[in-house]
Amino acid sequence: MDKLIIHGGNPLHGEVQISGAKNAAQPLMTAALLAPGTSSFANIPNLRDIDTMLALLKHLGVTVSRENGTLHLSADNIRADDAPYDLVRTMRASVLVMGPLVGRLRHAKVSLPGGCAIGARPINLHLKALEQMGCTITLHDGYVEVDGTHLQGAHVVFDGVTVTGTENIMMAAVLAPGTTILDHAAREPEVVDLANFLTRMGANIKGAGTDRIEIQGVASLTPASYEVMPDRIEAGTFMIAAAITSGDITLRSCPIDALTLFTAKLREAGAIIDIDANKVRVRGPRRSKAVSITTAPQPGFATDLQAQFMALMTIAEGTSTITETIFENRFMHVPELHRLGANITIDGSLAIVRGIPQLTGAPVMATDLRASASLVLAGLAAHGTTELRRIYHLDRGYEAMEQKLKRLGANIERVRDKPS
Ligand code: EPZ
Repeated sequence: MDKLIIHGGNPLHGEVQISGAKNAAQPLMTAALLAPGTSSFANIPNLRDIDTMLALLKHLGVTVSRENGTLHLSADNIRADDAPYDLVRTMRASVLVMGPLVGRLRHAKVSLPGGCAIGARPINLHLKALEQMGCTITLHDGYVEVDGTHLQGAHVVFDGVTVTGTENIMMAAVLAPGTTILDHAAREPEVVDLANFLTRMGANIKGAGTDRIEIQGVASLTPASYEVMPDRIEAGTFMIAAAITSGDITLRSCPIDALTLFTAKLREAGAIIDIDANKVRVRGPRRSKAVSITTAPQPGFATDLQAQFMALMTIAEGTSTITETIFENRFMHVPELHRLGANITIDGSLAIVRGIPQLTGAPVMATDLRASASLVLAGLAAHGTTELRRIYHLDRGYEAMEQKLKRLGANIERVRDKPS
């Protein structure tokens, strides 16, 4: 177990390279299952969740190789069509093998993911859509078994917006006979990245990025090469790092077009954000102003940036409200922020944040991926030393975060920790 030791108070300055997006890389990698042959991916981030996904793909029979930063996945022979519990329970995104296995093999057996720290996170919407496409779903021994013998295009209307649900059904539909329409589809940029790759493989997809996607099934697909889009959540996290430390950070490969409302809110809080060709410069104000947010599916304020924005609001001038509408338990960073002196009151899905002039460093505990990012940001701004434990959560979704922060002038060290 590692922990981070952060001595706060340094304004951050310099340039940071944004890595490939975890939430784009995962569906892209499972999409390689759809065609025999070798698909290649550039800009895959070096993360624990990517390693877990590679372990799952190898279990299914995919051959994995890397050469100078490019990942090659060869899916000639899919040996298995099951995603075992010991892999799925550590990473919910494993459910993303369901769509491609049903598309290619007409069968999949995936362990029910189970909940996670931020919520129950069921997959009922994925399964209901597959049933509408003619699949037979059975649940046994903690597994979902999908029989796609009679897979057929259908008009699917999602009850709620689901990112991986949209991605899973897209990957089943591209090889399903007939036309599939997805209404109330997720509009996240990672869905568009996946649609772009599937199109390169020979799929016929229209409307990705809108809430209505139309897919004409094709008989087969061929492998392709693709470069993963930059990570908008990592980018947003570093933009907040500039604001919360009253610093001046330039982000290279920042997908700013995927962060429109977030950027508007950060400007409202007082950050100066200059956008040019492929760089974004963020200068933080001496002290941010309180700004309220409500999370929502794209193009709304991303739930994956809620905890990080809350860290900024803890030292803003004034009182802000933060409403989390996507997950039922995504305020676990709040008790830890309290330990740093933050003044936050929770009422259901609403957090009321009364800004204070300064946080004070203390030992805190990471509970989930984005909560840990929030605590790093708070520690960077806090007066004194913050120790952040269980940072394996952070390593799931941020590539070498402490090294990137150190290059920006942060006083931060990763040290070995005794098991807690
Ligand atoms: C994706 O998760 C992301 N993960 C999450 O990022 C992100 O927070 C989330 O989308 C929302 O943007 C990946 O892309 C790998 P959903 P996903 O299905 O697809 C409910 C991170 O930090 N729901 O859009 O699992 C669900 O419980 C992670 O990088 C159902 O009820 O999220 C949630 O309340 C965390 N039934 C809401 O919908 C379903 O069948 C949105 O979930 C599916 C979802």
